[in-house]
Amino acid sequence: MSYTSVKGMDDLCPPESYRWAEIEKKAKAIFESFSFSPIVTPAVERTELFSRGIGRATDIVEKQMYTFLDKNGESLSLRPEGTAPVVRAYLEHQLYHPDPYQKFYYWGPMYRYERMQKGRYREFHQFGVEVFGSASYRIDAEIIFMMMHLYRELGVKKFEIQLNSLGCHECRPKYREQLLKELRGQKSALCADCQNRLEKNPLRTFDCKNEGCQKIAQTTLPRMVDHLCEPCKAHFEGVKTALNQLNTPFILNPNIVRGLDYYVRTTFEIVSGDLGAQNALGGGGRYDGLVKELGGKDTPAFGYAGGIERLLLVLENETQPKYGVNVFVAALGPKAQAFSYGLIHKLRLKGIKCEIDYDDSSLKAQMKKADRMNSQCVLIIGEDEMNKGEAILRNMSTKVQKTIPFGEILDEFKKKS
Ligand code: HAM
Repeated sequence: MSYTSVKGMDDLCPPESYRWAEIEKKAKAIFESFSFSPIVTPAVERTELFSRGIGRATDIVEKQMYTFLDKNGESLSLRPEGTAPVVRAYLEHQLYHPDPYQKFYYWGPMYRYERMQKGRYREFHQFGVEVFGSASYRIDAEIIFMMMHLYRELGVKKFEIQLNSLGCHECRPKYREQLLKELRGQKSALCADCQNRLEKNPLRTFDCKNEGCQKIAQTTLPRMVDHLCEPCKAHFEGVKTALNQLNTPFILNPNIVRGLDYYVRTTFEIVSGDLGAQNALGGGGRYDGLVKELGGKDTPAFGYAGGIERLLLVLENETQPKYGVNVFVAALGPKAQAFSYGLIHKLRLKGIKCEIDYDDSSLKAQMKKADRMNSQCVLIIGEDEMNKGEAILRNMSTKVQKTIPFGEILDEFKKKS
């Protein structure tokens, strides 16, 4: 009997896992520099949190959640996204006290039972950011700018920011009625999915992948952006102006409706041409009603989450994962081996990544091993070197060798690492 991972839930092995670690490091550093605080919530929540938060009529809640009964009969779900859990934590721990303005970032696995394809998995990972307590359009633009900066820093060359406004609880219901009227008139031309969700979730026709529906959406349906109330219009103009001020290019896409019900006003997706059908690197927007919906005070909020697997797919074509060790110590003979064993632990304690051979291998075999480990250099220590008190240092890319006295080894690597 051999075991494989569960369909849609993949392993991530070296060297790809190094790219992952690099993304994590850079993303967290950027979020910290924009003064976000880390927050960690559990992978399992009460099902009700998601059905209330994301919306009962969404695909995520209707079809994609991993839901099960706990031993005490309570319905729990693996989290399909991170926003509702962060809102729960914000309320549960009164993180709004004394100041509702709070910024959090998170990183972790999410679960959706989806049809598998490239870029779409059943366990995937997101990094996300959530800002509470400000309705300012400047926040919207700032987060979009930060995400652009992050993708650029990570080496993503081709991506596009697509922007829309979904209006608010004032203007959207009126628009929805108009949209419904139009859609009912064309019902027979819609795909089965859009027909089924027409009354519950008419906006979804805009992001339906069916060609016929897309044509209808693009040519005949009224668009939310043309029906914004004055405050929403002003907010949207503000976002666009602030993005221009921050030199953040964007494209207006009235078809961005997002698959979660909590959005109002600004919504956006960051898409990559290199991803095929699942082209969203991430998405987000404003969700001013969610905190109240989940039992808190009326609190404006804005956030974004990016998919890490999709980011890895894009980076596969753009960058080499950085991995390997700083130094491999090739020791020959018992005295040199004992000395080197002590030495690598001194180096490791200084934060220098190093390895050694444990199997009494020949010098040739050790050099090969160093090569396989992608070592930047090899420190060769044989009996001769032990007698002289100096090691041979070989740079593995230039092949240049030099000798260094034992007493200077630590300093030599501290300079480089
Ligand atoms: P979302 O658009 O559902 O938004 O997911 C964000 C990103 O997660 C997607 O753009 C994609 O990169 C990745 N993703 C989603 N599903 C899958 C999947 N099955 N396989 C691989 N990657 C996937 C949210 O989750 C919102 N919580 C974002 C947000 C934060 N809005 C406000 N704050």
